[in-house]
Amino acid sequence: MFFLRAKYIRRIIAVLEEIEKGNLQQRINIYSKGASGRLCQAIDRGISALSAQINVLRKEAAKGNAILTNMVEGVIAIGSDGRILSLNPTAEKVFNIRKQDAEGRLFLEAIRNNDISEIINRVLKSGEPLAIELTLILPVQKVFRINASAIFENNSVSGCVLVIHDITQMRRLEKVRSDFVANVSHELKTPLTSIKGFVETLLEGAIDDKENNREFLRIIQEQAGRLDALSRGLLDLASLEEQGIALKKERVNLKELADNALIAFEAELKKKEIEAENEMADNLLVSADKNKIEQVFANLIDNAVKFNRQRGSISIYAEETADNKIKVTVKDTGLGIPAKELPRVFERFYRVDKARSRSLGGTGLGLSIVKHIIELHGGSIEAESSEGIGSEFFFTLPK
Ligand SMILES: Nc1ncnc2c1ncn2[C@@H]1O[C@H](COP(=O)(O)OP(=O)(O)OP(=O)(O)O)[C@@H](O)[C@H]1O
Ligand SMILES: [Mg+2]
Repeated sequence: MFFLRAKYIRRIIAVLEEIEKGNLQQRINIYSKGASGRLCQAIDRGISALSAQINVLRKEAAKGNAILTNMVEGVIAIGSDGRILSLNPTAEKVFNIRKQDAEGRLFLEAIRNNDISEIINRVLKSGEPLAIELTLILPVQKVFRINASAIFENNSVSGCVLVIHDITQMRRLEKVRSDFVANVSHELKTPLTSIKGFVETLLEGAIDDKENNREFLRIIQEQAGRLDALSRGLLDLASLEEQGIALKKERVNLKELADNALIAFEAELKKKEIEAENEMADNLLVSADKNKIEQVFANLIDNAVKFNRQRGSISIYAEETADNKIKVTVKDTGLGIPAKELPRVFERFYRVDKARSRSLGGTGLGLSIVKHIIELHGGSIEAESSEGIGSEFFFTLPK
């Protein structure tokens, strides 16, 4: 016969009641010899094993939770009855809904989106994964890719998980790239068509037309020059956009660089009777890539000459800024840029007057190359302009 003392029984019941409440630290702690002691110790071992397993499960759950909470993607879990089981903070933000208002409710009640509700129903029915793209205004327009996959339990669908990726930036970059390709093709096509046309005309007999043949050849030469400028501009941009491009930095004198750049424009300046003044101080030194900054001056001066009026002027001056940078200004008295066009002039191929720029041999790449170079140096560039009065382009460079 096996007797368990009343006080042991009370102790066992008290401990089990604590365990029931979730207090897994409790043990019976009775070590008497004989069957009662062994029973109590066996129960204690059982509690310890159970508590260890529960701890492992808690840690796993906490890990899962931490991952879900910190995910950039939105995640929503839905039960087989179409009710939301849980959602992470990103999903709360995307759909502008609070966890406590969403969990337990039917998807369509909590988030009024028919397209998503439709794919949830299809996934719950078929078990096959599905994906859709969705544009939401929140309040800015964003594009999301939503992947829905089934959760299986014992070979049958027990729910569905939605993963929501924000692909706005990716779509934007794709558009920039495809616009760029379209622009390049267009820019290449124009001079090529012209060259082809005039070569054909010459071959068909115009070569013997003493009055026009030289003019046709001059046009061909001009268009070949455009193709050359375009390919050089594109190569410059491509090399500037390369990740981790190395600048050959050295101490350079800004006034000297501007003077070097100005020399190349002597003939043009004379032809247009433009007064160009380099008012920079002699001692402005910055740590920069000499050739690239000279190219910046050349491109800005080229614009200041091209878009200037007859007998206009250009001045280049510089000052030190409060944050230890040098701010250089290239100012002209040209036709100016309309205010609404101003923010776009640094875009590739953007020209206020395409026909005019083309006839001046422009590719529309000059300012975007300038912007790239300045930003690679840790500086920035801006422009101000008054139509009919002139423009100012100013860039900063760290010393
Ligand atoms: N100083 C300026 N005055 C008036 N308009 C300007 C001036 N600088 C730039 N722009 C406008 O901005 C556009 C873009 O300039 P950008 O230098 O990139 O191209 P571009 O000069 O036309 O071609 P490229 O530089 O290849 O010769 C120009 O076509 C012109 O419309
Ligand atoms: Mg230019």
